[in-house]
Amino acid sequence: MRPLTFLGIESSCDDTAAAIVRLEGGVAQVLSSVVAGQTALHAPFGGVVPEIAARAHAEKLDHCVEEALAEAGIGLRALDGVAVTAGPGLIGGVMSGVMCAKGIAAGAGLPLVGVNHLAGHALTPQLTDGLSFPYLLLLVSGGHCQFLIVRGPEDFSRIGGTIDDAPGEAFDKTAKLLGLPQPGGPSVEREALAGDPNAVHFPRPLLDRPGCDMSFSGLKTALLRARDAAVAERGGLTRQARADLCAGFQAAVCDVLAEKSRRALREYMALTPAQPAIAVAGGVAANRAIRARLEDVAGAAGARFVAPPLRLCTDNAAMIAFAGIQRFALGHVDGMALGARPRWPLDDTAPAMLGSGKKGAKA
Ligand code: KG4
Ligand code: ZN
Repeated sequence: MRPLTFLGIESSCDDTAAAIVRLEGGVAQVLSSVVAGQTALHAPFGGVVPEIAARAHAEKLDHCVEEALAEAGIGLRALDGVAVTAGPGLIGGVMSGVMCAKGIAAGAGLPLVGVNHLAGHALTPQLTDGLSFPYLLLLVSGGHCQFLIVRGPEDFSRIGGTIDDAPGEAFDKTAKLLGLPQPGGPSVEREALAGDPNAVHFPRPLLDRPGCDMSFSGLKTALLRARDAAVAERGGLTRQARADLCAGFQAAVCDVLAEKSRRALREYMALTPAQPAIAVAGGVAANRAIRARLEDVAGAAGARFVAPPLRLCTDNAAMIAFAGIQRFALGHVDGMALGARPRWPLDDTAPAMLGSGKKGAKA
């Protein structure tokens, strides 16, 4: 296959991103990856405001693309195609990205490839670690939580997932309830270091049921009750009480993810025993306590554990460019009719899950 160089564009939630990726001789190289976050814009509202996100994407996209090209040291003429997240996500943001990509593709006479954001995350372990198909993937982010068997660039089977909130969402709500800054994950992880995970008992939802489905919404209710009890007891929330709540909450998330990953891996290895591997992707995979537990689970099962570097675990456009190259290599090109899809499951055959994340269908 000839070398392929793609521009990737991502704008499905609250990060505006552009990147250049080259695939040459089976080896992928990230030539540049620019991410402009919007945390400050949404901070006063305590969550992502879709309209504000869409407008900010529209304003930032051109600059991110220019920066990505400059950083890679190439012009539009060196590109072989443009890949863009066409869903799932907050529809205004996805539309901003798709319009930008269409403009560039039409103007420069380049093929346009629409990419599923979840496929971007799911293929990342290949981009970063050269992990070959098949592998088991745990995607854990602010809007998604699912186990996927990844067999090819367009071949995914979901074998379990959350039936309500995603873990990242639960971390963000926990932070909000405890007055910690957003995004909640890193704040709660930091506080948890000083806390006693056994001081407050949190439930381990769905562990008593077979299978790989998960539930995290009960944890936030448990946290709210425990917080109110702590406040009532002391007339306010002490630093230690807050740290204990964070540690207890994080331990519960760790236990649930570890046990369900153990089951998912067992199910996967029964189907595909040769060279088993489990990879993680999504923002929550940045959590050191969670990573360590998953690494233990993989080790105990004799499977390889792959955790991409943080900047490629969270939302970025390099994963979109890479997924676009893969799709293009399979002969897939979208025309100017490419639409933006707010919902777009990776595995159409798996039954629909109940919840999809209060912040919209992020990944
Ligand atoms: O993948 P991502 O950047 O965006 C999408 O959700 O698509 O993930 C963001 C989520 C947020 O909910 C954030 O709180 C969570 O990942 N997160 C973490 C950590 N770092 C980010 N959760 C737990 N521990 C962390 N260290
Ligand atoms: Zn994502």
